[in-house]
Amino acid sequence: MGTLLVLGTRPAAAATEPPPLRELADGAGIRLGVAVAWPELGRRPEVARLVARHFHSITPENALKWAPIEHQQGRRDLAAADALVGWALEHGLTVKGHALVWDQEIPAWLLGRESAELQSALDAHLSATLDEFGTGVHQWDVVNEALDPQGQLAPSPFITAFGPGHIDAAFRAVRRRLPDALLLYNDYDLSAGGPKTTGLLRLVDGMQARGVPLDGVGIQSHLDIARPPPPEALPALLAALHERGLVAHISELDVRIGRAGGARWGREAAQAWHVHRVARACIEAPACTALTVWGLYDGDHWTAREGLQREGPVLLDRALQPKSAFHALAAALRGEAPPVCTENIIEHGDLEDGARGWTTGGGVLRRTQAAAHSGDFGLHHDQRTAEWQGPVRDLSAHLGAGLDWRVALQARHDGPSDQPLRLTLRLEDDGGERFVPLAKVVAPPGEWVTLATEWTPKLEGPLRRADLYLEGPAAGVAVDVDDMQAGVVCPDS
Ligand code: XIL
Repeated sequence: MGTLLVLGTRPAAAATEPPPLRELADGAGIRLGVAVAWPELGRRPEVARLVARHFHSITPENALKWAPIEHQQGRRDLAAADALVGWALEHGLTVKGHALVWDQEIPAWLLGRESAELQSALDAHLSATLDEFGTGVHQWDVVNEALDPQGQLAPSPFITAFGPGHIDAAFRAVRRRLPDALLLYNDYDLSAGGPKTTGLLRLVDGMQARGVPLDGVGIQSHLDIARPPPPEALPALLAALHERGLVAHISELDVRIGRAGGARWGREAAQAWHVHRVARACIEAPACTALTVWGLYDGDHWTAREGLQREGPVLLDRALQPKSAFHALAAALRGEAPPVCTENIIEHGDLEDGARGWTTGGGVLRRTQAAAHSGDFGLHHDQRTAEWQGPVRDLSAHLGAGLDWRVALQARHDGPSDQPLRLTLRLEDDGGERFVPLAKVVAPPGEWVTLATEWTPKLEGPLRRADLYLEGPAAGVAVDVDDMQAGVVCPDS
C-alpha cells in the first residue's frame, strides 16, 4: 500500500511536452484548426487544454449541422453549438461554421416535403443560424459535398427541388447577411486529381462567371494510406485555385490506416508522411491559408465512435499522446523532413551495447569482437546445420504497408569458396505464410559485403510474423553480421 502511494505521487517524468503547433504554424504562415465535438470538449479538461494550446480555430464537428440543431421542426436546439462557439471565442480561438447547405445530416422531417416547403425551411434555417452565430463566426462552409465522385452535381433533395441554381442562391443568401465573412465550398476527394477535381474547377468557374460570392474551397482530405492520392494532385489543385483568386483550406484532414496491412508503427509512419505532405503543400501554396484536422485524438475520432479499432486517423493517440503524425506536422511547419523518415528501427543493429533482438532457428549466435565490421562488436553465427539458418531479426512490431522499406547490413562468411548470402523475409498475416527474397550477394570467402534493399511490403491485415533471415551459405559455414539498419523510405514531397 505504502509503495503504491509513493509510486502514485511520483512526479511525472520531466515533461517534454511538444511546443504548441499553432506557434510553429504562425512561423509557417498558415492557421491550424481542429474539429471538435460536444460534450467531449466540455467533459475533458485535457482535451480542451490541448485544443487551446495547439490550434487557432475550431470547426464544430456536428453541432452546427441542420439535423442536430433542428430534430423537431421549429424547435432549434443550440446547446452544443452555443457551448462550442462560446468556449472557442472565450479562449481566443476562431470558429469555422460547418455546414450550412448539405444534403446529409438534415432533419428527417424534411424528407418528402414539397419544394416550396423545403425552400422556406432552408431559408428559415439559414437565417436563424446566421442570426445566432453570424456575429461570432466569420468563416462558413456554405455548401458541402454537392459533387458526386464523377464531379457532377450529386442527386440531392435540394437539387431535385431547386435545380442546380441552388448552390449560387445559397452563397448569395449568406453573402447578403454576412458581407465580410469568408464563404467556402467544401468537398471530399478533391485532391485525387481525377474527375472530381475537374468537376470542382468547372463548378467554381461557373460560379465565378455568374458573379457568385465564392471566396474559397475547403479540400476535406479524408485520406487512406491504402488508397493514396497522387502526391502532385494537391499542389496542382492549390495552384489552380490561386489562379482563380480563391483561398483554399485543408478542411478535414485525417489519414485512415485501418485498411492497410501490417504493424501499427509502419502504418502510422505512412500516415505521418501523408500529414507532412499535405501540410507542406498547404504551406508552399499561396492560396492555402489554413489546415484543419478532423478530430483531436484517436479515441474520439468518429471512426472510433463507430468501433473501427484498427483506425487511428489523427495526431494524438487514445491517451492524448503525440503520434508520428503529430511530429511530422510539427516538422512540416518547421520546414523539416518527417522524423520517421530517417529513423532506424533496429536496436542493437551495430551490436555495440548488446545483441538483444537477434535470434536464430539453429546453430549458435555469439556477440564477439572478432565479428566486428565497425566498432568493437559484431555477431558470429556458427554450427549452422542448414542453408536457411542464420541470424534473424523480428520486424513484426514495425513493418507496415503504405511506404517502401529499406534494410541494410554487413555480412561475411568463412566458407572455403564463394557462397550466396541472402536476405529473406518470412511473413505471416491474413495472406498466409510466405517467404519474400529481398537481396542476394555471392560473397568471396572472408570478405565483408553489403546486403541492402528497398521494397514495398505487400501485407494483408495484422502481421503475425515478420522475420528477416540472413541465410544461404552451405551448412557448416559460419557467418558474421554487423551494422544492420532498417526503416521506412519516404518519397520526396
Ligand atoms: C462526420 C462527423 O465527423 C461524424 O461525427 C458524423 O457522424 C458524420 O459526419 N465530411 C464532412 C463532415 O463534411 O461533416 C463529416 O463529419 C465527415 C465527412
